[in-house]
Amino acid sequence: MNTKINIPGLELDNPIIPASGTFGFGYEFANYYDINILGSISLKGTTLEARYGNPLPRIAECKEGLINAIGLQNPGIDKVLSEEIPKLEKVYHKKVIANVAGSTFEDYVECAKRFDKCDNVGILEINVSCPNVKEGGISFGVDEKMLYELALEIKKNVKKPVYIKLSPNVSDIVSLAKACQKAGVDGLVMINTLLGMRIDLNTRKPVIANKMGGFSGPAIKPVALRMIYQVAKEVDLPIIGCGGISNAYDVIEMMLAGASAIQIGSENLIDPYACKKIIEDLPNVMKELNIENLNDIIGGALNE
Ligand SMILES: Cc1cc2nc3c(=O)[nH]c(=O)nc-3n(C[C@H](O)[C@H](O)[C@H](O)COP(=O)(O)O)c2cc1C
Repeated sequence: MNTKINIPGLELDNPIIPASGTFGFGYEFANYYDINILGSISLKGTTLEARYGNPLPRIAECKEGLINAIGLQNPGIDKVLSEEIPKLEKVYHKKVIANVAGSTFEDYVECAKRFDKCDNVGILEINVSCPNVKEGGISFGVDEKMLYELALEIKKNVKKPVYIKLSPNVSDIVSLAKACQKAGVDGLVMINTLLGMRIDLNTRKPVIANKMGGFSGPAIKPVALRMIYQVAKEVDLPIIGCGGISNAYDVIEMMLAGASAIQIGSENLIDPYACKKIIEDLPNVMKELNIENLNDIIGGALNE
């Protein structure tokens, strides 16, 4: 039975990767189990300067999911390179995915350039859900032209494979994926969180201090599947699927929609052993569904 998957930048023993922001810098989980079983790890979103994140409360529970507005809290690229990655290297021996964020073009490019020099990084994953301060706060990931220019500029400045992590908060996901392809990126990660909110019935105010936040978890799986399917039909780039995955059956479903590998996000917050359990279950589910080689099922539903 084969669970090995190759995508530009990474040779994965299995397609399971904890998603950015839900697995810290990875080493924290080494206290629970041998994290070397993971296909790879997507690190906490990193910006050029340290960020303290948004005011509390910044998490709200929902049916089948949660809303977060962490606000990209992170110690900044210098500390990530000098402290966080060396700690991870001690307990994890495979290449990782660096998740890059920023508020301006310059921030993104500089942060990507610094990760590009780090041997342990296999892929640069660009989170384009961030607002562009110079353009008055519009998210990089919702404007085709801005996304194209950002992707092109990053590609020009780095050697490692660049994957754009698409925001689902758009009306036409295919045109944004096409803009990435035109800019020459190496892959896509999809999807990031959906914009959502909750209101406290007693205070009559939004639960989250930031008012709105990113909705994730099992409830968003159908949206993620639909977008991956639409993009895989029209764009020739490897896709790392993400959004609402909580078990090995979900993994197969997302691969059938066109994903080559899978990221697990909110499920890590519910159960720190989630990725381990999914990796262990995967061969059994493959057997049950008569799948010998995971590579054979990628995009299997696309002709339907
Ligand atoms: C608490 C929390 C923090 C997150 N932080 C980041 C981040 O720093 N960078 C990023 O690209 N995505 C971030 N995400 C989005 C996840 O990586 C993932 O795309 C999203 O949660 C959808 O997957 P899921 O439904 O499996 O959670 C975060 C999600 C959560 C729940």
